[in-house]
Amino acid sequence: MLNIAVMVSGGGTNLQALIDSIADGRIHDAKIVRVISNKKDAYALQRAEQAGIQTAAVTRADHPDKKAFDEALLKALEESEAELVVLAGFLVVLPEEITRRYKGRIINIHPSLIPSFCGEGFYGLRVHEEALKRGVKVTGATVHFVDEGCDTGPIILQKAVYVEKNDTPETLQRRVMEQAEWKILPEAVELIAGGRVKLNNGRVEIL
Ligand code: GAR
Repeated sequence: MLNIAVMVSGGGTNLQALIDSIADGRIHDAKIVRVISNKKDAYALQRAEQAGIQTAAVTRADHPDKKAFDEALLKALEESEAELVVLAGFLVVLPEEITRRYKGRIINIHPSLIPSFCGEGFYGLRVHEEALKRGVKVTGATVHFVDEGCDTGPIILQKAVYVEKNDTPETLQRRVMEQAEWKILPEAVELIAGGRVKLNNGRVEIL
């Protein structure tokens, strides 16, 4: 059984996709042991509570400085005894102590086809605004391992989604979630839980 901690900042629809996939058997042999949020009022925390999952809110405001906040995040993870950390709309860049400690054991869902529209400042709706501004005809989502960089880690799964003529950032965000994110995030967790994801020279091989 793979113990998972999920880190969130917002609505938690990707968290919900994981909860539902575990409940209906699309993900085997995995359990969400804790949901950690940097926002006390994140709706994702309510989703976790409704599913009977332990929650922890670790906010920057409750800590005197960034160092204390980073240490509290690490402590919340370590206490959970999670073997895999899933960033599901977690809008804090993880400190190096965490990326180092959990090397190869943290994954993130990003709402574009990396390396497009990623890196610092590209999160949430911003990503879709920029994709529409650039006029791309295809976008999508990416699940990748997290390293010390921002959206630079090895890519595990990607799924493409067509941009439509009258898309707004909001309609595009919704379609990317429905057609890509809520599918490939559970798929990636299922692959990892099944021991089918192997890192080879900084690239992912699916067994
Ligand atoms: C998702 O679209 C996720 O891909 C994005 O935030 C949203 C969270 O939604 N993450 C990033 O932009 C990370 N750079 P959710 O809280 O409903 O899952």
